[in-house]
Amino acid sequence: MQSWVIGNWKQNPATNNDVNMLLDQLLAAVAKDGVTTPCQLMVAPSCVHLASVSGRVQGTPILSAAQDISAHSGSTGAYTGDCSAQQVADAGATWTILGHSERRQYHRETNDTLLQKLTHALSQNLNVVLCIGETQAQYDASETFAVLVEQLAVVKDWLAQQSLESISAIQASNLAEHLIIAYEPVWAIGTGKVPTVTEVAATHDYIKQTLASFNNNLAEFTVLYGGSVNADNAASFAANPAINGALVGGAALKSESFLAIAKAFSSAKS
Ligand code: PGA
Repeated sequence: MQSWVIGNWKQNPATNNDVNMLLDQLLAAVAKDGVTTPCQLMVAPSCVHLASVSGRVQGTPILSAAQDISAHSGSTGAYTGDCSAQQVADAGATWTILGHSERRQYHRETNDTLLQKLTHALSQNLNVVLCIGETQAQYDASETFAVLVEQLAVVKDWLAQQSLESISAIQASNLAEHLIIAYEPVWAIGTGKVPTVTEVAATHDYIKQTLASFNNNLAEFTVLYGGSVNADNAASFAANPAINGALVGGAALKSESFLAIAKAFSSAKS
């Protein structure tokens, strides 16, 4: 079964030179031993590096993604500092991350904002990795599932919108081909703390069931785990069939650890 290992580079690396060095190592490794099969690799550089990275990975087994798009405009407009879905797609990215917890925390992203972003992305044929996850306090209060249902309401609302007006290049019936969910407990991001594999698998099953309940014509969704995934723990996550891949932050900034995670998923899912 196809799995996915996605590197979310966040506001890294600091220079164009460092970006190119990291990419040189990744491209050399995939050209040499094809570590990606059956694991799809993707990298999400900062918007300033997106066009150059997308250009360099074109025709290779690595895909490129933006880390975010503007909520305000599907195309051009007076939105200082924003990048539209169309610009991101034109820069060569085929995917965008949306709703990362750092965007929710530092930029106050709400479901309303995310519905606009999801609509713009899908209408520009830009595939989406939608991040969801509970905070430590919500985890401690056993509110994880309730929080996830609330965050997944964006997908439900998008589906409801599609039945009212046909505004998307991507049709509701094949949404699972264009939308991946990344379950990232906020308390596990960058902390070295991880939930147990059993907990993650149960949560992934719950996410898949929740999405299926929105529309029974949808195919099963790909659900990734994210939060302190590294070369040492990747194999244990990869071994569980409910975990379809990983969204990786810190460990994606070194080619050795990112490729080790890819290899773990590649061998577990082959
Ligand atoms: P981390 O970040 O792997 O550094 O915990 C994951 C993420 O934020 O996507």
